[in-house]
Amino acid sequence: MPARGSRTKLIRKKQSKPEVCISKKRIVVRFIILFFIVIAAGLLIFVHLQFNQQLMRQPTPLSDEKYYFTDSRYSEIRSKFVIRQTSREKVSIEYPITKNNKINKTIAQVITRADRDFRYTATNVLTFNQPMTETISYQITHNNPAALSIIVNIKQDMHGAHPVSLTHFWTFDKKSGEVISLNDLTEQSEKATREIVAAARNNINETIKQRQQAELDLNETITQETLSNFVITDGGNSLAWPIGQASLLPSAYGEMTIKVPIAAVAKYLQNPTARKLANIPKPPEPKPKPEPTPAPATPAPAPTTGNKVIALTFDDGPGPHTAHLLDILDQYGAKATFFLIGSKVSGQASIVRSIQARGHQLGNHSWSHPELPKLPVDQIASEIDRTNDAIKQATGVTPAILRPPYGAVNGVVLEQLRLRGMSSILWSVDTRDWADRNSDIVCSRAVAGAQPGAIILMHDIHQTSVGAVPCILSALKQQGYSFVTVKGLLGNTTPGVGYP
Ligand code: NI
Repeated sequence: MPARGSRTKLIRKKQSKPEVCISKKRIVVRFIILFFIVIAAGLLIFVHLQFNQQLMRQPTPLSDEKYYFTDSRYSEIRSKFVIRQTSREKVSIEYPITKNNKINKTIAQVITRADRDFRYTATNVLTFNQPMTETISYQITHNNPAALSIIVNIKQDMHGAHPVSLTHFWTFDKKSGEVISLNDLTEQSEKATREIVAAARNNINETIKQRQQAELDLNETITQETLSNFVITDGGNSLAWPIGQASLLPSAYGEMTIKVPIAAVAKYLQNPTARKLANIPKPPEPKPKPEPTPAPATPAPAPTTGNKVIALTFDDGPGPHTAHLLDILDQYGAKATFFLIGSKVSGQASIVRSIQARGHQLGNHSWSHPELPKLPVDQIASEIDRTNDAIKQATGVTPAILRPPYGAVNGVVLEQLRLRGMSSILWSVDTRDWADRNSDIVCSRAVAGAQPGAIILMHDIHQTSVGAVPCILSALKQQGYSFVTVKGLLGNTTPGVGYP
């Protein structure tokens, strides 16, 4: 009560009035400050929630994912193709589907993990206008009744400083589905494994020397553990390790395919496991043929190796789509190599001249597309000569390179080539464009398999293959690649030698 009384008194006092005003103003000011704090906090929460919501939002509703199954040309293997395309991501993934579930699972796990990481970035990192891109595809380098060698190439461009380029590779036991390790291949022989690792180190050193890069101490990094997974290539005649950038060697050394010709280590592979998996020559009678093999086994003894150059090659032409292809190549300033079928040349001499005139390379793809090793020697010679003659008649130029139909080549064919100053050119990336007449599939296989020095196999007789070329050229150009002829890639090739 007394307090109330004194307050009433105060209010009545005239001089107390300004004091009342001050405290009222204070209240108002405090209220306004509080009001703004509340508004600001509200705004912050609102913005935060909005932002979070944006982060949580899936970039791709499931409806945008399409997948379908398609034949791969590899026997008993199909592909599952997954495509997602939105404003935030542009993805194509090719899963190999073999008859063994365990193999499929091992591979799918690696692909799915990579894709999950990619999607995390595509979902959570805000980018501006370009979608992030991912292409994943595979190459089979060996497929016999016992073993399957497979390389999975993963390319992701997440707008970072460098696009991600990874390879995973295995040789599987087709029956059990187990991964075959280098130790399995040597049947746990310490010495044999050590010798193969040493041969692999030598091969790396040679490549480094050719590329004129600084020497490396490989003892720590190149070991039987790091080389445990391998692939078999070259028709069962080489062991290889297609290592990605920064996976085993310092990043500056780029991508590299380590290769060991089996003939060079055959002594250490005289066991039943190895004989089941690959072609192991008997040690006592080393044939004269294995001699030239070590030379091509060193990847591309080239002036341009290590640079970002790629050789696109087109087989089986010329055809109705070749002229259009030449225009596309011109548009992108790309050079390519055309392996022509002799019997098609004389009727289309003007297009053949045009290929030559526009700076592309002409190669021989035989007269009638047979499996050359199955022919007697005089017919092999005739297949080569008739085609060379036809090309020379059309253009004045005699080809120095031959692509054997079906990639089938042996010592007899190589000897015939040697006699004519020619060499055999296979490929490192098979787009399987004739099996899948789908430009998107062909493009993503080419892009996923691309690496410096790659030779990409396509067929310009298919409209869908020619249709894939703009996609291939623009995607790889964006990655800094340029496109050269086989000669531009390998330089002058050695007669009688098979590349790669
Ligand atoms: Ni062909």
